[in-house]
Amino acid sequence: MAAQNQPVWQTGTVVEATPAATGIRRIVVAPANPQRAAPGTHVDVLADLGHTSETRSYSIVESNDDGALLTLGVQLASRTRGGSAFMHALTAGERITMTQPLQNFPLRVGADRYVLLAGGIGITAIAGMARLLQQLGSDYQLVYAGRSRDRMAYLDALEELHQERIRVHVSEDGTSLDASSLVEEIATTGPAELYMCGPIPLMDAVRRSWRENGLPPTDLRYETFGNGGWFPSEDFVVSIPRLGIRTTVEAGQTMLQALERAGADVLSECRKGECGLCQVTVLDVQGRIDHRDVFFDDDQKQATKRLCACVSRAVRKDPAGTVASIGDDRAVLTLDIP
Ligand code: FES
Repeated sequence: MAAQNQPVWQTGTVVEATPAATGIRRIVVAPANPQRAAPGTHVDVLADLGHTSETRSYSIVESNDDGALLTLGVQLASRTRGGSAFMHALTAGERITMTQPLQNFPLRVGADRYVLLAGGIGITAIAGMARLLQQLGSDYQLVYAGRSRDRMAYLDALEELHQERIRVHVSEDGTSLDASSLVEEIATTGPAELYMCGPIPLMDAVRRSWRENGLPPTDLRYETFGNGGWFPSEDFVVSIPRLGIRTTVEAGQTMLQALERAGADVLSECRKGECGLCQVTVLDVQGRIDHRDVFFDDDQKQATKRLCACVSRAVRKDPAGTVASIGDDRAVLTLDIP
């Protein structure tokens, strides 16, 4: 059965949990009610954070034909909300609460040419697409960029499978990816659909270059979860004077969560920076906004008039990126909500 996007919760049993690269764990799960998982699908997992449980989304790297075994790849993040630590602690035989495969990053089969771009842990959303295109004999190129080879999961297997169709960029080896050059190459060599998943700075650079080169927006598709921002997460203060709210957003929680806990009624849907429903108005910022969404374009982000509360944050930086002297030892965001 194909993936349905209405989450249906079930139990899953961890069958295998092994290292896939430095800081990345390969976790194979057997869901109680298997469903076939197409490329681009993910599962939501209920992560036990000790004092509470929260939903986290993980791409399905690989699935067998009937979906009885789903492979996830999880990067341990030091300054996030604890979901990855929960996943990294899992061992074979443990039960988790998870959904069936959910699809919001479908691969459109039948295009003349594809470019698949993965940055770091983004490979978990891209690997299945590359495998399918290879099986179909499609015209594709897989571009895989990372900081160092030891942190790039599945690298050896991908190089063996995709041979001349994979291009690897490793910052530590001096072969960093230049996003503009990649997009210009696509623009000059003819139409291609680009599917990407990676850090926000990389995806922002590609989106900007895509627009500058006049390429069709519908040919650019991306998945966002698992992405960090431009800066490491840190505590900051958020206030909504109209509602008398002033609260701290800890490094391990989102601004949306902090506002909800403080009693603010903020609309939301995707909670991963895509739909824009959680957007709030920025009245003032002491420090700098770290926009982590893909909803606003570059100009809107630079205007710093609105932000997506579900993913974006504030940091103690000035516009040049150096630590700002802002009186308080934390950045302060003053907002209003619709
Ligand atoms: S809830 Fe969708 S962008 Fe924040």
